[in-house]
Amino acid sequence: MDHAFLLLLLLLLARVYPSSSAYDFEHCTNTVEQWASSSLHSDSKDGHILKDLLFFLHVPRTGGRTYFYCFLKKLYSSSLECPRSYDKLHFDPRKRNCRLLATHDDYSIMSKLPREKTSVVTLLRSPIERVFSAYEFSIEVAARFLVHPNMTSASRTSAHLRLKKGVISTLEIWPWKYLVPWMMEELFSRRDARKIKGPPYSYGNDSYNMKEIVMPLHEFINHPVALDIIHNGATFQVAGLTNNSNKWEAHEVRHCVMTHQTLGKHVLEVAKKRLDDMLYVGLTEDHKESATMFANLVGSQVISQLVASNPVTEAVSKSRVTTRQLLKHKMTVGKLMETYETCVSKLRSTQSKRRINSFKRISPANFTKEARLHVSEDVLKKITLLNSLDVELYKHAQKIFVRQQKFMEQKLLDSDGISEMWQTVHGKNYKWEILYLVLFMLLLLFFIYFFVKAKTRISKLKI
Ligand SMILES: *[C@@H]1O[C@H](CO)[C@@H](O)[C@H](O)[C@H]1NC(C)=O
Ligand SMILES: *[C@@H]1O[C@H](CO)[C@@H](O)[C@H](O)[C@H]1NC(C)=O
Ligand SMILES: *[C@@H]1O[C@H](CO)[C@@H](O)[C@H](O)[C@H]1NC(C)=O
Ligand SMILES: *[C@@H]1O[C@H](CO)[C@@H](O)[C@H](O)[C@H]1NC(C)=O
Repeated sequence: MDHAFLLLLLLLLARVYPSSSAYDFEHCTNTVEQWASSSLHSDSKDGHILKDLLFFLHVPRTGGRTYFYCFLKKLYSSSLECPRSYDKLHFDPRKRNCRLLATHDDYSIMSKLPREKTSVVTLLRSPIERVFSAYEFSIEVAARFLVHPNMTSASRTSAHLRLKKGVISTLEIWPWKYLVPWMMEELFSRRDARKIKGPPYSYGNDSYNMKEIVMPLHEFINHPVALDIIHNGATFQVAGLTNNSNKWEAHEVRHCVMTHQTLGKHVLEVAKKRLDDMLYVGLTEDHKESATMFANLVGSQVISQLVASNPVTEAVSKSRVTTRQLLKHKMTVGKLMETYETCVSKLRSTQSKRRINSFKRISPANFTKEARLHVSEDVLKKITLLNSLDVELYKHAQKIFVRQQKFMEQKLLDSDGISEMWQTVHGKNYKWEILYLVLFMLLLLFFIYFFVKAKTRISKLKI
């Protein structure tokens, strides 16, 4: 009741006070509805089958890096990767034969891809976790620059890093190219203020609210930049409406939706439909299950696709190497899982060292699990409120996840299932261990038999 009333009030207000002629409510409703209906028509048949091109739509801070380095890079050689496009418009559709595109680009990049030949996969994370992670990572990267005496010197270095060819720095990648410089400025200005004021310092004990050192979380989440690129970020990315979008029409739709929040429901509808049509949707929270599912639903198909593709007719000679490599190592789903687990634990330990080192520079602020427990209920509520579309999208993703689970179980049972499942569910190949165990038991029985026989012979002799 209350909500309905509020909605009505908002609608009325939007009607009475149009924000500007270009973005008035009526015009925006038309624009957004038109966009939604043209985005909803779908031509996706066989959603479970991997097509020629795999597009990994990497929503920032969902753990996609581990999927990229520990799954996709283990399957596809660099020559099969489409030109990197973490930034805008770097994707070069003229490079044909590329099989893998993994970027922070939003869904609008699909307009540049052969749609009917492209499968999309993504990972989603619970909105509160994603916002915390975006806050902490922006600060983590920015804090590394505190080795510099001042902002001018730090900016010069970061500009230098940007210019380095062949290296993709975090500072070039959307959304970090906005978030990191912003946090950098914040850290430097707070440090300068401390220098001027001098001791004694009293920082308090709440890392998420230590304003003398770093922008507090509650300030961060209410800032226009966070509204622009963090909140409801997953929904906007899947809908193709981030502020990094490749289509100019997207920016008008985006502006309308940001101005009139009631229009958000159309965006959500489109995002849900897109998730439905994806080859795979993983959940950061269900990490182990998601990885197993990825190996079985996507990995297995990539392996058969690369092995099946005829190396002789491939235009890119290097792709032959991949096929041969795959054949040489006899990549299986079980092996892929093993490789993944080793790779992930290495990657995690490197990442956690970098994180600890970086946070040393903003001590006593330290973003730990314990510190998080003290974040106020109000802040958490506000994050949920600011991410209402993402909250709904995440619920939908959880439903898809359950469906995928059932599908995978069915698939494993149907095919030469049992042994595959045996290998993959445990993420390990136990076949050999079992064989050795059986051999060992046989040998043992054999020895016991001979021992007993020899003993009886000896006792017979004695008599
Ligand atoms: C910033 O640091 C550099 C290097 O130490 C120094 O040369 C420069 O004068 C400093 N700039 C300001 C504005 O303090
Ligand atoms: C900070 O100290 C206060 C009082 O000493 C305590 O109630 C609070 O739980 C502490 N907060 C953290 C984050 O440790
Ligand atoms: C995207 O968002 C950032 C941060 O608010 C802003 O600086 C930038 O201008 C925006 N870009 C576009 C194309 O709107
Ligand atoms: C921050 O917390 C981590 C544990 O999460 C700890 O290992 C690290 O030493 C702490 N850093 C500082 C500067 O206290």
